[in-house]
Amino acid sequence: MIASTVKIIRAKKELRTQIKEWHMKGLRVGMVPTMGALHHGHLSLIKEIQKHVDKVVVSIFVNPKQFGPNEDFDKYPRQETADIKKLAEVHTDLLYAPSAKEIYPEGFLTNVKVTKITEGLCASKRPGHFDGVTTVVTKLLLQCLPDVALFGEKDFQQYTVLKQLADDLDIPTEVMCGKLIRDEDGLATSSRNVYLTPDARQIALEIPKTLKRIVDEIEGNIRPIEESLNRGIEHLLKSGVKEIQYLEIRKSQNLEPVTDAITEPSRVLIAAVVGGVRLIDNMPIQKPQ
Ligand code: PAJ
Repeated sequence: MIASTVKIIRAKKELRTQIKEWHMKGLRVGMVPTMGALHHGHLSLIKEIQKHVDKVVVSIFVNPKQFGPNEDFDKYPRQETADIKKLAEVHTDLLYAPSAKEIYPEGFLTNVKVTKITEGLCASKRPGHFDGVTTVVTKLLLQCLPDVALFGEKDFQQYTVLKQLADDLDIPTEVMCGKLIRDEDGLATSSRNVYLTPDARQIALEIPKTLKRIVDEIEGNIRPIEESLNRGIEHLLKSGVKEIQYLEIRKSQNLEPVTDAITEPSRVLIAAVVGGVRLIDNMPIQKPQ
C-alpha cells in the first residue's frame, strides 16, 4: 500500500485554523482520539470513520489526568515515529499531537464530570479515571470541533460516558462506536498487551473464551445469570488470572445492572489482572429467544 504524508500539528490554534479551512470548503471532519502506541484496533477506527467523513484527524496525547498515582503513566508506550508511519499507511490526514502544556497550561482548574454511568465497572478500581477522560475529551472535541468522533467498543463504558458527555454539553459532534478488534488468538487488541509474557498471554486468552461461554449460556437459557458469572469467575481464577476487578452484565443502552433476566440488548463486561497487566473486554448479549 502507498502511504500518504500525514500533516502534524501540535498547537490548538493551528488545529482550529486547519479545521475551519476544511469546514469552509464544505468538508466533513472526523476525529479519533488516542493515546498512541497505535495497533489494529486504532487503525480500524480510522478506516471506519473514513466512511463517514472527508478528512480524518487522529490525536495522540497520553493524558496524565486519567492515570491513577500507581498506574502506568510513566511506562505507557510512547512511539510517535512508528505511529506516524501507521497513520500514513491508512491515509490519515492530520495528526494532532499536543504537549501536556498545550492541553493543561499553568493555572488549569477545570474538571469535567459525568455522573452515574461513571460509577462502578472501571471506576471501582480507578477513582477519578473517567473525570480525566471526560476532561481531556471535552478539550480535544472543542479544540477540533469535528463533525464525528469515533470511540472503540473495547472501552464500552468509556464510549457510553463520552456519548452522554457530548449530548449533555451540546458539543456539536456525533459520537459513534467502532467495533472491538481482537488479535488472531482472540485477545482484545490493546496497547498494554505488549506487557504480557507468553505464559501470561495464554492465561489472558481464557478471558474472551469465558465471556463467550457466558454469552452462550445466557442466550441459550442454559444457566441462570448469577450461576454463569460465578462459574466464569471460578474458571478464570483456576486458570491463573490473579484478580477479577469485575465481571458483570449491564444494559448496553445505559449501563444499568442486569441480574435476573436479559430484557434488552446487554453486555457482559470484565476487567482482570493477568501477570500484573490489567485487561478489559466485553461482548454483547442478545435477549434469549
Ligand atoms: P486509547 O486506549 O489509545 O484508545 C483510543 C481509542 O481506541 C478508544 O476509543 C478505544 O476504545 C479504541 N480501541 C482501543 N483498543 C481497541 C480495540 N481492540 N478495538 C477497537 N477499538 C479499540 O481510550 C483512550 O485511548 C483514551 O481514554 C482517550 C479516549 C484517547 C482519552 O485520553
